[in-house]
Amino acid sequence: PKASVFLDPHFAVGEVNPRLFGSFLEHLGRAVYSGVFEPGHPRADADGLRTDVLELVRELGTTVVRYPGGNFVSGYRWEDGVGPVERRPRRPDLAWRSTETNEFGLGEFVRFCRVAGVEPMMAVNLGTRGVQEACDLLEYSNMAGGTALSDLRREHGDKDPYGIRMWCLGNEMDGPWQVGYKTAEEYGRLAELTARAMRMIDPDLELVACGSSGRSMPTFGAWEATVLEHTYDVVDLVSCHAYYWEEDGDVDSFVASAADMESFIDGVIATADHVRAKRHSSKRIDISFDEWNVWYMNRKPEIEPEPWAVAPRLLEDVYSVTDAVVVGSLLITLLRRCDRVAAASLAQLVNVIGPIMTEPGGPAWRQTTFYPFADAARYGRGRVLRLETEGPTHETAKHGTVPLLHATAVQGEDGTVTVFAVNRDTTRPLTLTVDVRALGARGPVSHTYLADADRHARNTSVSPDRVTPQAGSSATVDDGVLTVELPALSWNTILIG
Ligand code: AHR
Repeated sequence: PKASVFLDPHFAVGEVNPRLFGSFLEHLGRAVYSGVFEPGHPRADADGLRTDVLELVRELGTTVVRYPGGNFVSGYRWEDGVGPVERRPRRPDLAWRSTETNEFGLGEFVRFCRVAGVEPMMAVNLGTRGVQEACDLLEYSNMAGGTALSDLRREHGDKDPYGIRMWCLGNEMDGPWQVGYKTAEEYGRLAELTARAMRMIDPDLELVACGSSGRSMPTFGAWEATVLEHTYDVVDLVSCHAYYWEEDGDVDSFVASAADMESFIDGVIATADHVRAKRHSSKRIDISFDEWNVWYMNRKPEIEPEPWAVAPRLLEDVYSVTDAVVVGSLLITLLRRCDRVAAASLAQLVNVIGPIMTEPGGPAWRQTTFYPFADAARYGRGRVLRLETEGPTHETAKHGTVPLLHATAVQGEDGTVTVFAVNRDTTRPLTLTVDVRALGARGPVSHTYLADADRHARNTSVSPDRVTPQAGSSATVDDGVLTVELPALSWNTILIG
């Protein structure tokens, strides 16, 4: 099969916000403990941060890290995680039926962010707590000094305020699994009051209201409308969360998961703009897609963890080539909608449905999903160009007719255009032509791809480099037309100089 792309630098969708390449660190399983933080590990620094993981985080290119949850945040007391470690309490974490030792808390997280070169994004607990505790956390974090909690931070050794700009007002408050979950009315009102109070401390914050925890929630749409009726004037973004996995061997539907993500984005934008129109508001609410990934939610862990264990092995999905291609395709959708998706977080970063895996006391390595994310975070900077595509389609059980080619193009400041493309055909290569005349491009062109004869191939501690990107050799430019072969079921990064 053959597909064609036409693009012109005069026609752009919008600028990519670097926050599109965020990720997520929750107190869950081994994300924190023996993930990013393991005092005593041979590669740990003086603060107990694993330098081998930090190197991979930098290579991944993630820009923002959301913390501390997730479901965890809805029962969390942030004060437990500050001050002298020996005085910090151990608490039951109801969300994951684990024991939280609190050896890692806010100060450690901010240090992690500084060393990793990422922006912190905090979430406040609106499950079991409310306005006062959110303001206390903000005072501790962002006020310079001269008040009880900002002075307490200084006493704890952090003289400079943390300057955290992005804050999530709770997490998945529509979900019955959430500690302290709420109706849209209850949450909308609480989020509004919390946002108003937080802005009294710091008017420049960027605040995220909880949208639906999934597009299939029965309250989807109505939830966003009610929450935004309450919060429209005091928040900047509304969240989306989406997870995908292959079910019953239906690989074609799975590989077309981005079609669902697109509909999700369209629905949330339509709802936000409806509220905007009703309010005669000139302000626009955009999306923080602050949890997205492939996650095999229905898979039982090999060893069922003991209840209330410390840092048990939870949600340690080992990703295949197919999963990586889906992650790439979801990234393409986020880029294609960069006009309204202002931030996004791959959920999560390490061990827990993460692109990076570790063994306690042992190595750290890249999962298959690491590679499309790293490509997008590196080359997906600049302006997303509007694409016209022509090519074959196929039927899927879940998403109807979808094109075999899923693609986007980003033009960097130096004029270089990167085409990201997924071939959804699981058995046949796809010949792609790109009309590059409007770019005035003559080359050079480089092509890398992630694909494998075994679509189930994975990276593990035993063979950490089983799956890595390969350099393609098929790309040519002839008479203003770039031709390149996309292998069956593949993620492709094509740089046009
Ligand atoms: O990322 C794992 C979990 O998924 C998060 O804790 C929660 O917000 C979502 O349901």
